[in-house]
Amino acid sequence: METIVSLCKRRGFIFQGSDIYGGIGGFWDYGPLGVELKNNIKRAWWRAMVQERDDIVGIDAAIIMNPLVWRASGHEATFTDLLTDCKNCRHRFRADKIKGWEEPEKIACPNCGMRGQLTPPRDFNLLFKTTVGPVADEGSIAYLRPETAQAMFVQYRNVQETTRKKLPFGIAQQGRSFRNEIVHGDFIFRDREFEQMEMEFFVKPGTEDEWHDYWKEARLNWWKKTLNVSDEHIRIKVIRPDRTYIEGPDPDDVQVEKPPHYSKGNYDLEYLFPMGWSEIEGIASRTNFDLSAHANLSGKDLSYFDDETKEKYIPYVVEPAMGVERCFLVALLEHYREEVVASKDGREEKRVVLKFPYALAPYKAAVFPLLRNRPELVEMARNLARDLKTEMMATYDDTGAIGKLYRRQDEIGTPFCITVDVQSLDDHQVTLRDRDSMEQVRVDVSQVKGWLGERVK
Ligand code: GAP
Repeated sequence: METIVSLCKRRGFIFQGSDIYGGIGGFWDYGPLGVELKNNIKRAWWRAMVQERDDIVGIDAAIIMNPLVWRASGHEATFTDLLTDCKNCRHRFRADKIKGWEEPEKIACPNCGMRGQLTPPRDFNLLFKTTVGPVADEGSIAYLRPETAQAMFVQYRNVQETTRKKLPFGIAQQGRSFRNEIVHGDFIFRDREFEQMEMEFFVKPGTEDEWHDYWKEARLNWWKKTLNVSDEHIRIKVIRPDRTYIEGPDPDDVQVEKPPHYSKGNYDLEYLFPMGWSEIEGIASRTNFDLSAHANLSGKDLSYFDDETKEKYIPYVVEPAMGVERCFLVALLEHYREEVVASKDGREEKRVVLKFPYALAPYKAAVFPLLRNRPELVEMARNLARDLKTEMMATYDDTGAIGKLYRRQDEIGTPFCITVDVQSLDDHQVTLRDRDSMEQVRVDVSQVKGWLGERVK
């Protein structure tokens, strides 16, 4: 993890939020390469979950919603973690993450080591509060949304009526969520501000188990095919009210859990992070918990009339929900390689390479002139880069020797480097070098855009 953290900072993927002021815990800023990787992840998800499907549509809702939304959803009352303080060193902990937390008087503080100093655990609500309008009083309190899901329930009726979708169908959304986590950490794994990609799939009651299994397979395949995650690094934690077990690697390494308050069962996809198996996506069988709760509190009818069977019911919901930051971290951890390669003069040297799937790579191509003091080469390389930029993220660089420029692009995962050399002026061909095999081919400059476009699509 330390290697990845330092690579992210050194190359401009991620910076500490408000860096010059010493940062602020749980908030991160994404730099020039980070924003590209994030956008590519979001695009890949949207493509699989909305663009390529007839039965799912997207929305983009406001972050701040009527506070009654969070009353109905149960977040106001129950979106809590257990908090304990050390009276000696004043450190705060999530109680349930400390071994023996049920009897705090008997255990030592994980920070200062003093026994008997931890306070009895108490509930801490993770909602971020704010006020709306010029007067800050009880009536103006609102919350930053802790999940994107609720907008899909609140707008279910509007979306269903305007799109005339029939069950089963889904509503998807990507956007920021906020949780005042007691302990943030493991780099960007647990943040206080993060982005979620969630889809609520509305189904006929009685068919939810079938759809739950369908989405488990579909989402597992997405991680394997789009993120190229290997079978040994991903697994499913099955969380039922009476039983927790693993499908996949390390089946004995599991802690018993209960499904969230809104769910009758969860499939949590877990990735083998450096700190151990941890959740990357939750696929919950949410029943009609949310729609019923909103119908009750708002007084609006959120039932569905089934034209074919002439039945009226409140749909059940299956929800695949994931965080962009965890996916970002998986992309880096899964594809980071340190390789020993032979340099031009035959010596062995180390190269760091991010072997991202092409669709995720921040830049698809980088263009260099072999000699930066030859204006004709510089001009030809700049023109080629400019032309590529009309189709894909590409960059021009002439700030070092070619070997060094290759290494820089390998380290950020650019699939193809293109060199314009003296011969290019005569034969109008350039050298394309493949990131993974490091093999080189000569391609006519007029064909480069098409050649790359086919491969990085
Ligand atoms: N609507 C259901 C829901 O929000 P969740 O398991 O709390 O379920 C879904 O969150 C996903 O959002 C998680 O699998 C994780 O990828 C991401 N996530 C949740 N809390 C996060 C945090 N504090 N920092 C980063 N990502 C987070």
